[in-house]
Amino acid sequence: MTIAIAIAVAGCAPVAALANDWGMGDSNSRIPPSSVFDSVSTPAHEINTLAFFVVSITTVIFLIVAGLLTYSIVRFRARPGDDGREPPQVYGSNPIEFAWTTVPVIIVLVLILITARTIYTVQAPARPPGALSVHVIAHQWWWEFRYPGLGIVTANELHVPLSDLQSPTPTFLDLESADVAHSFWVPRLAGKTDVIPNKKNSMWIDPHVAGTYLGQCGEYCGTEHAMMLLRVIVEPRADFDRWVAAEQQPPALDASVGHGRRVFESTACVNCHTIRGTAADGRFGPDLTHLMTRETIGAGVAMNTRDHLKVWVSDPRVMKPGALMPAMNLGDKDLDDLVAYLATLR
Ligand code: CUA
Repeated sequence: MTIAIAIAVAGCAPVAALANDWGMGDSNSRIPPSSVFDSVSTPAHEINTLAFFVVSITTVIFLIVAGLLTYSIVRFRARPGDDGREPPQVYGSNPIEFAWTTVPVIIVLVLILITARTIYTVQAPARPPGALSVHVIAHQWWWEFRYPGLGIVTANELHVPLSDLQSPTPTFLDLESADVAHSFWVPRLAGKTDVIPNKKNSMWIDPHVAGTYLGQCGEYCGTEHAMMLLRVIVEPRADFDRWVAAEQQPPALDASVGHGRRVFESTACVNCHTIRGTAADGRFGPDLTHLMTRETIGAGVAMNTRDHLKVWVSDPRVMKPGALMPAMNLGDKDLDDLVAYLATLR
């Protein structure tokens, strides 16, 4: 026993040292938990209401059946002095047969109709003019967001406008996979939608409370499935428009980081990443044009700070063991200058 406690205590020190959450705990603790019970968008709200309704009806049925069963077991149990004969058996009672056929049929019919209505609301809405369209591409292990009408490409942090209940401005998402099956899930905004290779699925959200909502890949997709996180940032229309205008600009050129930029352009970075205004036009990794406007890196694995970027660029697997980006093996000066250049991408 004593030995076990000693081992446990000794084991805690290295575990504590390893448990670096790269600043994510602080950031996430400021965001309300992603509870499915706390919906702020019509699809999530509809699903929630339906689930509550079905659970209520089935709970009432369960209580009635379990109650009658318990009553019968207690009331009609064998007692000392019973003569051992069965009580009178009743067959062919038309009123009883009629009741226990009709009532379940009506209940099932109500459940079918309400479920069909919810499925219709969630899956088949018309796209009103002015609705935002975003093309979501799931990768191992990050999310690519392309705004086809706006010429914007970003990663892991989806910006959408606030939708007013009176004059809704919903966002429609078309989801595709670049590799394996994933699932797009932001519990407070909508149900999961699977992202399947060679198939286009779609969904929509109309968040009516501004804020940041945490999401997560909802389908096991390989080593770093658990670290395929996303955020949806819901902003009032004016703020969203400002974000769009800023994203549409190429990043400002900063002469003081010329060497870092040359390091970027002369290494393998350009094969996988895009930075508008440079030769880099890779699509395998996230678009870095406005990297520093994002709060997190590595699909929510670390806060986006210069120190974390340096760790990430020198070896992403320190933060995210299965990450497909290789360690860049740069010299100290090149690494510092490259990170200094990345830090100017606003
Ligand atoms: Cu992508 Cu799990």
